[in-house]
Amino acid sequence: MESKRARLDRFISQRLQINRKHVRLMLAKGQVSVDGEFARDIDMIVDEFSHICVNDKLIQANQARYLMLHKPVGVVSATVDDKHKTVIDLLEQNDKASLHIVGRLDLNTSGLVLLTNDGRWSKKRMDPEYKVGKVYQVKLQNPLTSEYIAAFAQGMYFEFENITTLPAELDIIDSHTALVTLYEGRYHQIKRMFGRFRNPVIGLHRLSVGQIVLDKALAVGESRELTSDEIKC
Ligand code: URA
Repeated sequence: MESKRARLDRFISQRLQINRKHVRLMLAKGQVSVDGEFARDIDMIVDEFSHICVNDKLIQANQARYLMLHKPVGVVSATVDDKHKTVIDLLEQNDKASLHIVGRLDLNTSGLVLLTNDGRWSKKRMDPEYKVGKVYQVKLQNPLTSEYIAAFAQGMYFEFENITTLPAELDIIDSHTALVTLYEGRYHQIKRMFGRFRNPVIGLHRLSVGQIVLDKALAVGESRELTSDEIKC
């Protein structure tokens, strides 16, 4: 989901259907403001969340939205689905339609799901280039051994996609529980990685995405807006 960045003069020209020479004149005359400040620079870059006024008339005022949800098992990480309830169905907020999911979880995975309408923000959290760790608590059917740690750190080759997974961290909490930190999100990645040891995952729960930790006060199925500190981190 890419953000819509544009030069200010181009944005106004397209939005108001006037030529750019006219827009430059308006800028020079101080008839344009961006986020409450007069804008005179034609090269200024604006995005979908810049509040833009021309002659005191608001021509764009989208609000950026950032939410966390405690996803229950059995709810699908999609915006629409024929069979199951979706994470969007669980939200109480209005203007839900503009939101997208920042890193999906499987149907039978619970935990932290982030939602936003800000494409640049979600890219920074999900693109492996930004090395944002996602921490999962994993319950296994069979006992863990220290061999797993090296295998996760080394990465595993997935023939179907012809990729080797990025180094992942595995901490053994007890005989059947581990914390796994991934820096990417491949299809059923954790289940497939434990599958190499023929050890089925019987419970999977996402605890955090980077510095954003699932709020313990959120009951399963509940959501809340992120705080300004969480949005920044
Ligand atoms: N790995 C999985 O197998 N499933 C998830 O939902 C997330 C990571």
